[in-house]
Amino acid sequence: MGKITKEQIEITKVSTSRIESIDFDNLAFGQVFSDHMLTCDYKDGQWQMPKIEPYAPVSLMPSAKIFHYGQSIFEGMKAYKDTTNNVFLFRPMENVKRLNISAKRLAIPEIPEDYFMEGLKALLNIEKDWIPTKEGSSLYLRPFIFATGEGFHASPADEYKFIIACAPSGPYFSGDVKVLIEEKYSRSANGGVGFAKAGGNYAGQFYPTQLAKDKGYQQVIWTDDTSHEYIEEAGAMNVFVRINDTLVTSPVSDRILDGVTRKSILDIAKAEGINTEVRKIKVSELIEAAKKGSLKEIFGAGTAAVISPISGFGFRDTDFDLPKLEDTFATKLKNRIVEIQTNKTEDPFGWRVKV
Ligand code: COI
Repeated sequence: MGKITKEQIEITKVSTSRIESIDFDNLAFGQVFSDHMLTCDYKDGQWQMPKIEPYAPVSLMPSAKIFHYGQSIFEGMKAYKDTTNNVFLFRPMENVKRLNISAKRLAIPEIPEDYFMEGLKALLNIEKDWIPTKEGSSLYLRPFIFATGEGFHASPADEYKFIIACAPSGPYFSGDVKVLIEEKYSRSANGGVGFAKAGGNYAGQFYPTQLAKDKGYQQVIWTDDTSHEYIEEAGAMNVFVRINDTLVTSPVSDRILDGVTRKSILDIAKAEGINTEVRKIKVSELIEAAKKGSLKEIFGAGTAAVISPISGFGFRDTDFDLPKLEDTFATKLKNRIVEIQTNKTEDPFGWRVKV
């Protein structure tokens, strides 16, 4: 398959844009969508030429395998605009690579990297006016692939659709996030699909998260599926804890997503002179540290929320509050990463990609 260029992408534009109806000053997360989307079909054993079309419903047969066997994967990315209207992506190749890691695990054909990247650039070229500039806002990009091929046989589909949809978005969370350490339900298991961004990974979280919400928490902290002794992720994010002045996060594994924000935070923290450790974190260590006062911070890290500070956690029947610090690692690291993403500062890591 030869490489494609964005000039080869067929574009069908909307007759009237919806942009005037959007309140860019009061954006929620992922609730409104831009005029156009990128689409690309897999059939006859190969990915066809990507297209840009109006954002519109997708028509599927009831027997499409996505409905029955859940072959569906996604990514989360953001586009940013600086003060002179240059458009940037943040480490986009990490998302392309991870989408294909997910594809392989879910027996979905991998998307050629240039179809993804050239398609995304062409889409952003058309949708650049949809990139919000208000602090804390961005154009959230949702690339995803799902099985459109038909059949009730439990086997991989022979047809798929790749879409990139765009949602001008504000912050993911508002207010305090209190979490419950989950000991019964598991997000993932060894040999499973926890490292992939499979839609079903998230569906499986909703019920235990609802149970935690009913008890007054906003999210759960997932623990390992065998012993439930180690913390692994926070909601749909990677998790960091600060013990005294050391920043600790769990190593990625079969069960833990290799988050782009996670690895960027580790690199930024090191460059800022913060002591970092990548190691397993016992629930009992967290509780001991909370009791002694050496547990200073817990935060989640992911593309959507960037960094989401956690104000306290529950374990069994006890609640532990975290101190309200003036200078947190969470704020410092979030500011650094957002400054890099939005071209407010030098990018010594070479992560920012101008579109
Ligand atoms: C992201 O942080 O982009 C994610 O993928 C989480 C998603 C569930 C909003």
